[in-house]
Amino acid sequence: MPALITLENLTVKYGKTLALHDVSGALATGSLTAIAGPNGSGKSTMLKAIAGIVKPAGGRVRIAEQTGPIAYLPQTTSIRRDFPITVFQAVATGLYPSLGDFGAITAAHRQKISAALNEVGLDGFEKRQINHLSGGQFQRLLFARIIVQEARVILLDEPFTAVDAETTAKLIQILLQWHKEGRTIVCALHDLLLIKKYFPDSFVLAGKCLGRGHTHKMFEQKLLSFDLDMAELYPESEAPHPHGHDHPHDHAP
Ligand SMILES: Nc1ncnc2c1ncn2[C@@H]1O[C@H](COP(=O)(O)OP(=O)(O)OP(=O)(O)O)[C@@H](O)[C@H]1O
Ligand SMILES: [Mg+2]
Repeated sequence: MPALITLENLTVKYGKTLALHDVSGALATGSLTAIAGPNGSGKSTMLKAIAGIVKPAGGRVRIAEQTGPIAYLPQTTSIRRDFPITVFQAVATGLYPSLGDFGAITAAHRQKISAALNEVGLDGFEKRQINHLSGGQFQRLLFARIIVQEARVILLDEPFTAVDAETTAKLIQILLQWHKEGRTIVCALHDLLLIKKYFPDSFVLAGKCLGRGHTHKMFEQKLLSFDLDMAELYPESEAPHPHGHDHPHDHAP
């Protein structure tokens, strides 16, 4: 399969903080890829760079022209939930790029939103304010918002956080269905069991790319390991500063 998304020596900084350094690699059309790595390793940053939300300080992200719109599910911790909008309205925002003049929502759009809410198990929640949802229900809402976008490329940032086992299973089934339909999916997540079971390809990050390729190879090489400790992931000289920010020398090339 041809590369759909190509990272070429991608480097991203926030002020003086080097979040990603010199990451290269390609994501094939139709691939299902996990982005793994500890807190602060640059997973969200990589997704944001692909989505075009952060600009590279060096290198670039190349996206094949025929990709069409990219759907992006942000990490819940980065989303403000105190806007006074309902579940229905929040899912409808996923449709904005496809709405016609004056942004009118048609009967067909309503149908699409209802079907998406049904798919994630949020029937009957249409009128609920989003700040009155539980963490797991909010995560399902974000999935419904992705569903209505019908994008061929889907970026998910820790979509299973705060989600119980039953809901995770449900959301995984949706993800596998997208994969079957040939969509390209990139998903940041911590759960190694899920990565091992469902994600054929992985990127392992720690400020830079430690490894990428078939997930089983990442496990063979112990880049992904159930008994991994931080010392193995970060050689001593590269250990992240405990305070994280503004220590450019930690990651200096
Ligand atoms: N808006 C920002 N301003 C300054 N520094 C940031 C910003 N966002 C991220 N960083 C820093 O960039 C680095 C990478 O952060 P990123 O959010 O990509 O990590 P992550 O792997 O997604 O972590 P987590 O597992 O906690 O979600 C961290 O050192 C983080 O502190
Ligand atoms: Mg993150």
